[in-house]
Amino acid sequence: MRSRLAGAGGYLPGHLVTNDDLAATLDTSDAWIVERTGIRQRYRVGPADTTTSMAAAAARRALAMAGATAADVDLIIVGTSTPDQAFPSVAVRVQALLGIERGFGFDVSAACAGFVYALSLADALIRTGQARGALVIGSEAFSRILDYTDRGTCVLFGDGAGAVFLRAAAGEGADGILSTHLHAQGSLGDILYVDGALGVADSAGQPLPGKLRMNGREVFRHAVQRLSESVDEALSANGLGRADVDWLVPHQANIRIIDGMGRKLGLPPERVVITVDRHANTSAASIPLALAEAMEDGRIGQGQLVLMEALGGGLVWGSALVRL
Ligand code: COA
Repeated sequence: MRSRLAGAGGYLPGHLVTNDDLAATLDTSDAWIVERTGIRQRYRVGPADTTTSMAAAAARRALAMAGATAADVDLIIVGTSTPDQAFPSVAVRVQALLGIERGFGFDVSAACAGFVYALSLADALIRTGQARGALVIGSEAFSRILDYTDRGTCVLFGDGAGAVFLRAAAGEGADGILSTHLHAQGSLGDILYVDGALGVADSAGQPLPGKLRMNGREVFRHAVQRLSESVDEALSANGLGRADVDWLVPHQANIRIIDGMGRKLGLPPERVVITVDRHANTSAASIPLALAEAMEDGRIGQGQLVLMEALGGGLVWGSALVRL
């Protein structure tokens, strides 16, 4: 068996926050944020949105594009670092919202690499015959874990969800998920992390705030190096060269990292899907959101080779090479 990517969908919450909006209460500026990151705006959840509701909305769109229904789904995996509850998982909450009564689901905690990790797991479960129709979702409400007094982090992230629907297909056809490669280096866990979790206190017994903390420069340095290695690894594992890649759909963290990867692959800018300017970094949601946008507007079409890569807190990183 192999996994074909049959559809993608995205969802963005309704509350738009521009750089100028942030600059109203923070020592920053639109010019600084645009120059260092490429980000111009982001969306933030309002009272009506949850990580689960956004995930379900993106999933419905992915199913619609695939011409599938909830009855075709027997696996749901959600990459998220901002679940609504410790348990049940976002995945099974989505299952209930979609009215699905069979199959199984779970969440994956792999920060900004959450979608690539989830895609890899879903592909493995399809290949081994444990699932035939899989929703792979990235959904994040990062605004809940941002310290809005820390200008080095709060300007970078946004909320949203993206999803793909994978269908099992028999045999070794030319299309589908060609490969995924996952990596982790836990010894770098302290350069990008959340300082606490539900019920966890510091040594003095004070509850920890549970906010994102980052050494931006170190993350940037590792991102360029690791993602560059990932791109080479994905291509060489498939006996492919840079010229074979039709589209790069990268994790959307920073335009300078994305441009660097595009240049490495020798891809003209119009072959790199970019949403970071409008969505900011939506963590596990960023790749499926970008993919959905480019599939919906017809840029990415059948038969094309799409390379995805992501890195996040952990450090965790990886790639997926998919022919549509
Ligand atoms: N507005 C204005 N100034 C800011 C700022 C902001 N939003 N954020 C940081 N600065 C300041 C710093 O305080 C520092 O000032 P100082 O020199 O007076 O101390 C100066 O800008 C340079 O900070 P530095 O952190 O060295 O900037 P940078 O060029 O490395 O850019 C990032 C910062 C965060 C944009 C960059 O490091 C980055 O993108 N890193 C990767 C982050 C990432 O992608 N994380 C998610 C991975 S999934």
